[in-house]
Amino acid sequence: MAISKNGGPATGPQIEPAKGKLGVMIPGMGAVATTLIAGVEAVRKGIAPAVGSLTQMGTIRLGKRTESRTPLIRDFVPLAKLEDLCFTGWDIFEQDMYQAAQTARVLEGAQLERIRPFLEGIRPMPAAFDQRYVKRLSGGNVKKGASKRDLAEQLRADIQSVKRSTERQVMIWCGSTEIFLVPTAVHQTVEAFEKGLDDNDPNIAPSMIYAYAALKEGVPFANGAPNLTVDLPVMQDLSRRNAAPICGKDFKTGQTFMKTVLAPAFKARMLGVSGWYSTNILGNRDGEVLDDPESFKTKEESKLGVLDYILQPELYPQLYKDIYHKVRINYYPPRGDNKEGWDNIDIFGWLGYPMQIKVDFLCRDSILAAPIALDLILFLDLAARTADLKELGIQEWLSFYFKSPMTPVGLYPEHDLFIQSMKLKNTLRHIGGEDLITHLGLEYYD
Ligand SMILES: NC(=O)c1ccc[n+]([C@@H]2O[C@H](COP(=O)([O-])OP(=O)(O)OC[C@H]3O[C@@H](n4cnc5c(N)ncnc54)[C@H](O)[C@@H]3O)[C@@H](O)[C@H]2O)c1
Repeated sequence: MAISKNGGPATGPQIEPAKGKLGVMIPGMGAVATTLIAGVEAVRKGIAPAVGSLTQMGTIRLGKRTESRTPLIRDFVPLAKLEDLCFTGWDIFEQDMYQAAQTARVLEGAQLERIRPFLEGIRPMPAAFDQRYVKRLSGGNVKKGASKRDLAEQLRADIQSVKRSTERQVMIWCGSTEIFLVPTAVHQTVEAFEKGLDDNDPNIAPSMIYAYAALKEGVPFANGAPNLTVDLPVMQDLSRRNAAPICGKDFKTGQTFMKTVLAPAFKARMLGVSGWYSTNILGNRDGEVLDDPESFKTKEESKLGVLDYILQPELYPQLYKDIYHKVRINYYPPRGDNKEGWDNIDIFGWLGYPMQIKVDFLCRDSILAAPIALDLILFLDLAARTADLKELGIQEWLSFYFKSPMTPVGLYPEHDLFIQSMKLKNTLRHIGGEDLITHLGLEYYD
């Protein structure tokens, strides 16, 4: 690593400049995507601030505390400018982004009106879709193809046309949660996967076809849903071969965000947990899709893993071995995108005495997800321009943003939000050629 040691010359890795337009390609242009696109335009026009976005509002401390160097992250590393983002994507519904935002009912009418012409100018391309993987949805804006290979080729042609009008590209999956799938032989190698595309292998879901098309085109890919998609050996291989960074999976927005803040606190204090009951009500299209047990299973797996990894019951059996962890999601239309996430946590302290904590998070799902999507787009593009990150494949430093962070084979994921945040910021320091901050405290100003 090109990191200087305590005051030495700062030399970071080589980074290509963020010149020209960045094409943002989004499979799935529903609530999250429209809130992202409308939000970026609102920020560009000075209508509203980019609250929740580290790349737009966050700062980073550099050097010793005595140096008082705390630039904005966007002034420290060369990120694409919001003005240079060009949005496009695919959906099974033909609605333009203005109509889709109205369907999603996240942003208020008066705000949408101010950016209406911009939103009306973005219309989804026909999707690579198969209802067997998202049972509750059907729509007419879909590609026809003789095989999954044929669909992949059509998506590659779409990407190539975006390449002609933009300098760089990133793809971010904001599509629905697909049915639960596990990795099989077809996902192990590029050869097996391509044969599977020819044979219409049922283990290849539409999201995987998009990911394959993107990575074959050398386009970085982020996965906002809990689907397997790029969490597969074939995709990791393609990502490294084509220097197209990947990250995922499942945006960490509401309840899991809270969980990854609270659970590390209990463990840090050696407080026990006997039960954690999490329930949600939401009424948007995502909630409707998750009402199907097969899609819910995919989400459930993503939400359940968190506690085991953070609390490490194998290391602390007295505190966490018998924890009862339950996660429910209930579709409740009156709430729309304004989800309520309710947690009952049974903990125990000194001599085993029980206590309870209740968390009731009345959140706005897509308002929390949109800045995460924006940061991932900008950081993935940065990774793709940075010499020693672009060939890594999985960008673990972006785990901060995910419920179920991807890791290389054999490694366990890091879920603790504060460790994730430290890892992200140290990676930025590395990119910018600054000393890593360890908070070691051997000198008073560390
Ligand atoms: N909103 C959040 O806070 C949040 C948090 C974490 C994860 N997620 C995940 O992000 C995804 C998007 O959430 P949302 O609230 O925007 O849902 P949404 O239902 O509003 O939008 C998803 C869109 O994807 C489209 N779609 C489905 N399959 C497609 C395909 N094969 N090709 C193209 N389009 C396809 C649907 O037609 C729909 O318009 C979901 O998987 C959700 O679980 C959302």
